[in-house]
Amino acid sequence: MTGLGMHTLTAGRGLIFGGDYNPEQWPEEVWAQDAALMRAAGVNLATVGVFSWARIEPEPGVRDFGWLDRVLELLHDAGVAVDLATPTASPPPWLGHRWPQTLPVDESGHTLWYGSRNQFCPCSPIYRERALALVTDLADRYADHPALALWHVGNEYGQVCHCDVAAQAFRDWLQDRYGDLAGLNEAWGTTFWSQRYGDWAEILPPRRAPYLVNPTQRLDFWRFTSDALRAHFRAERDVLRARTPQIPVTTNFMGLFKPVDYWSWAGDEDIVANDWYPDPADPDFPARAALTHDLIRSLGGGRPWLLLESATGAVNWRPHNLPKPAGQLRLESLQAVARGADGVCYFQWRASRFGAERFHSAMLPHAGPDTRAHAEVRAHGAELRRLAPVVGERVAAQVALLHDWPSWWALEEPGRPSDRINAVDQLFGYYHPLWRRGVTVDLAHPESDLTGYACVVAPNLYLISDAAAQALTRYVAGGGTLLVGPFSGVADPNGHIRTGRFPAPLREVLGGSGEAWLPAPADQPVRCRWADGTPFTASVWTESLRVEGAEPVATFVDGDLAAAPAVLRHRFGAGTAWYVATIADPAPQAELIERVLADAGVVGVLSAAADTTTAADTTAVGGGPRELPPGVEAIRRGPLLFLLNHGADPAHVPIPDPAEDLLTNELVTGRLTLAPRAVLALRPRS
Ligand code: GAL
Repeated sequence: MTGLGMHTLTAGRGLIFGGDYNPEQWPEEVWAQDAALMRAAGVNLATVGVFSWARIEPEPGVRDFGWLDRVLELLHDAGVAVDLATPTASPPPWLGHRWPQTLPVDESGHTLWYGSRNQFCPCSPIYRERALALVTDLADRYADHPALALWHVGNEYGQVCHCDVAAQAFRDWLQDRYGDLAGLNEAWGTTFWSQRYGDWAEILPPRRAPYLVNPTQRLDFWRFTSDALRAHFRAERDVLRARTPQIPVTTNFMGLFKPVDYWSWAGDEDIVANDWYPDPADPDFPARAALTHDLIRSLGGGRPWLLLESATGAVNWRPHNLPKPAGQLRLESLQAVARGADGVCYFQWRASRFGAERFHSAMLPHAGPDTRAHAEVRAHGAELRRLAPVVGERVAAQVALLHDWPSWWALEEPGRPSDRINAVDQLFGYYHPLWRRGVTVDLAHPESDLTGYACVVAPNLYLISDAAAQALTRYVAGGGTLLVGPFSGVADPNGHIRTGRFPAPLREVLGGSGEAWLPAPADQPVRCRWADGTPFTASVWTESLRVEGAEPVATFVDGDLAAAPAVLRHRFGAGTAWYVATIADPAPQAELIERVLADAGVVGVLSAAADTTTAADTTAVGGGPRELPPGVEAIRRGPLLFLLNHGADPAHVPIPDPAEDLLTNELVTGRLTLAPRAVLALRPRS
């Protein structure tokens, strides 16, 4: 922690608005137009140089910074600050050509060649040396440049490599972790299938093999890869910090990106930044966006964060790329701001004419400034100025949603009872009803301090440490409300099954235990009923549980599990713990969340007012009286209440107190009609 953060960037600038700028793709005469158009659009930050390694270092050891000097000067003169990238994500062909051992190798032993991007092994000492030499010269050259406001290290770290160099680095990492081979053999369970290692040199990354690979070997390789990428990030960061201690450092995360454990990385950065490209074809994308933004905010401990990349319109990398309708750019940007972002940037400023991303949308499309797309960008840049009061404000959450990368990795190993239970679906299945109620959620690591939350939701904790289980038990004993989803408490940190009735380490707090996980026949509903007899359906998954102090809130109906518990609720100490042994359909899932929130005394930001709404306003999933109208999102950030309508229809929302909309200066009161894609930023009338 350096004390630097988004406040370093927003000071004197307000909310950040900008995008990736790749001037090396354009003749110099275009650069001045770009600077002028950026200024006119209210752009105050440009990310420069992400893919410029070959331009800066055309041959090994040669430097060409002249063009970059001119770019930074032009931007500075236009009042646009620079997020200067270390251009190390895409090495030039000469690196792979002269040093093929820097190229990544996949699990089948195939080299991934140059001609694209990202072609490096994160463990390669040659890559590391070349990258750090370049970063050093870049930092030395621009350390005192007045345009420099932020360092952008690499790009979207996520390289995975199985080459011989990575294999040796993996062995070193394992030696640190286990000390000796006996420890490794024990942890990996190598007595299984005759996998015992007698020499460190025998150990490999999990390469392609005839059949299922050792799951702990794979789990450790996920851990190792995340650490190896982090080590490279930190090496570049340290070069920058040594030269510019006053300039914050970031890299761009990718939300719920599986290969990198962002909990372990986030403290290494001054600003947590994210790239977010929702699929317009996914009807759930507004809620998925909210979940992602909440994750990013939480990774930074609640501090303001930066949306570093998003798309003004269509991307080009899905098979069929839907555009965004008018108003969508604004809606998505303000959603990020509402959830704690102090800046919104896009990939990219000017649409490329050539290269693999020539059909990707941009702030300035091929057709030029006289376009709807650019007009929206300009209007939004101007509008963001009105939101100055939000800068630096925090989002307060009463509910913590637990997410753990090693548990995700371990859960989704092949050779499990069902591949239909997976981490992100579970997370979203528990998040969505909370979002529908306007209940604000932080994401949290299972071993973090949860005592400040009224409710903790663990959609899946397949892998759980003893420390986390004890902390959760203490949390409930102390008065907290805990909700645990199916197939939790199964494995220890080595991925070994915890023996005894499950979920062994949570058995006491949950007041019940099970003996078998029983996936349900595909496409056949799992019939259940609440304790009052009301039926509901679930799918995919069941478990054979018995009650050990808990009350069965719901039971299964059919087969061997008839009348066996499906949902448990247990008063434990001063709190309450819930366990769910199936995957409920959306309506009963909403009902379940409603009951758990009632135990925790948690209501959504609008719920007091929503109680007065008519049934017609609350006809969404579950029909719960505390749900917001379909498509409506509500969240408080500091003193501001944000209301967003992601739906296709106008929505009616009751406003608790008279307020002023910062975006229009209008006074609103009573019952409000939100047009499709409308956003309000309400400040209570003092
Ligand atoms: C990101 C990447 C950008 C650009 C963008 C296109 O993953 O960081 O460089 O490729 O996607 O959507």
